[in-house]
Amino acid sequence: MTESTDSTVLEPPEVSARAQPRSLYVETYGCQMNKADSELIVGLLAREGYRVTDRVDRADVILVNTCAIRENAEQRVIGRMSELSRFKTANPGLILGLCGCMSQHLGDRIIDKAPYIDLVAGPDSYRRLPAMLRTLSTEDEPALDLTWDRAEHYLDIDPVREAGVNGWITIMRGCDKMCTFCIVPFVRGRERSTPHGEVIRQIEHLAAEGYREVTLLGQTVNKYRDGGVDFADLLSRAAEIDGIERIRFTSPHPAHFPDRLIEVMAASPKICPHTHLPLQSGASTTLSRMRRDYTPESFLDVVRRLRENIPRIALTTDIIVGFCGETEEEFEATCEMMRAVRFDSAFMFKYSPRPGTASHRRLADDVPEEVKARRLTDIIDMQKSISDARNQAYRGRTVQVLVEGRSRRDADKLFGKTDTFKTVVFPAQGEIVSNAVVPVRVNGSTPFTLFGDVVAA
Ligand code: SAH
Ligand code: F3S
Repeated sequence: MTESTDSTVLEPPEVSARAQPRSLYVETYGCQMNKADSELIVGLLAREGYRVTDRVDRADVILVNTCAIRENAEQRVIGRMSELSRFKTANPGLILGLCGCMSQHLGDRIIDKAPYIDLVAGPDSYRRLPAMLRTLSTEDEPALDLTWDRAEHYLDIDPVREAGVNGWITIMRGCDKMCTFCIVPFVRGRERSTPHGEVIRQIEHLAAEGYREVTLLGQTVNKYRDGGVDFADLLSRAAEIDGIERIRFTSPHPAHFPDRLIEVMAASPKICPHTHLPLQSGASTTLSRMRRDYTPESFLDVVRRLRENIPRIALTTDIIVGFCGETEEEFEATCEMMRAVRFDSAFMFKYSPRPGTASHRRLADDVPEEVKARRLTDIIDMQKSISDARNQAYRGRTVQVLVEGRSRRDADKLFGKTDTFKTVVFPAQGEIVSNAVVPVRVNGSTPFTLFGDVVAA
């Protein structure tokens, strides 16, 4: 899953005239699943009369929804919490809360480290946030809830989303894979699938709200199973829902791609021809130390079957360099795989040991920092030229762009995405509004963006 930082900006929901509305500011770090969880938190607290503000200095409650995946993500958040605690000078009643994966990872130790934090809630505890906030208004002790709840699917809560074209729906929580480098199973708990009826209800709800695109989320989303309904069944049912025109999902695991799933993807024009397929490493020895459950050969077989059945498909990936014991030959095998597959784009990381994981406990983090840095630069450079060539191949083609809004760099331009997940920037013309699908002829590109002009449909 991709990472970014975001603050949630929403129109204030209706509140009863008698209730004193309290204002809530939510800041989100990490992957799409965290963003979806923030929307859930806002949905939960809106029911209690909280109003979302985009003014952090006006908030009564600040919640920071965090990521624990790499150490620098954690460091950034600790710095940010300390910065936010300064608002307590002007507003001594301000409640500062830490939610999400880092809360679960650091537990009550975070309160010793950062005593200005009033509330700590893990990913299974959001339903209890209103009660925790009520307790805090009368008590001085910090409120802490890091309970695991395998049955928690947040079924009856409708997330409150930012206006946009894409709605995220979490269809699986947790992960049972236990890749040796990964903290997710420790902070998000055991894998569980949301009942399919609820997923379909949520997609229908999105369609009724005017969303045209939906992204189904899960750490191993293609392992989805609810009774007799597997991921392929769920996708084909989702594709029958009127109003939704684009269906995306992230992230599938390369070890779970039966032919039937690929057939369903190929058969429905609504299922976007883009798959994020995290490779991590191209060396079989590294993959087995990572406990990734596939080999370079079986990964290439998934790529071949996807491309044979869906010729237009775009493939993106995640790569880790400098994993424990990674030799120059193993690194070269990763480069070789990247050259062989030619991904459209990649998220690339240096290995970051996470306390509690199997690799941290059992394997030495023995690749020197400068070697990790050099390997990372090498693959970033290589991927950049592959992405450049892939994007250049779009020049002269007409693509269908789902418009998201005005370009941040140039207000005279609009931007949106192709079904293959390419960002396209083009001059605004006439009455084109967000959420429209428009044909754009591509006439320029960089490794990251396509440029073009609207053409007659
Ligand atoms: N199942 C999810 C993984 C979430 S983590 C998915 O497939 O998207 C997102 C990415 O972060 C992983 O694919 C991996 O490339 C990277 N990552 C996870 N743990 C890491 C670590 N300890 N050090 C460096 N990168 C890591
Ligand atoms: Fe992490 Fe592996 Fe699950 S990368 S989220 S343990 S599939």
